[in-house]
Amino acid sequence: MDRIRLTIDGKEVEVLSGTTVLNAAEQVGIHIPRFCYDKVLSSCGACRICVVEIEGMRNLVASCVTPAAPGMRPS
Ligand code: FES
Repeated sequence: MDRIRLTIDGKEVEVLSGTTVLNAAEQVGIHIPRFCYDKVLSSCGACRICVVEIEGMRNLVASCVTPAAPGMRPS
């Protein structure tokens, strides 16, 4: 499985392909609030409490349903 490097709030992290931004953030000790997300259920991205800003993107994205991408810089 491919590994991806991204930088979250200035912290570099390497995760498996398909990992969400929310889960990548957890790996570097950053807690993103969530309400509708549960790791044992499929994600729906409905409540939007977990939105983050990603460099180069116009709109805020729900971190629980957004897959990490190489070079991504969420904050
Ligand atoms: S936790 Fe509800 S949209 Fe992410």
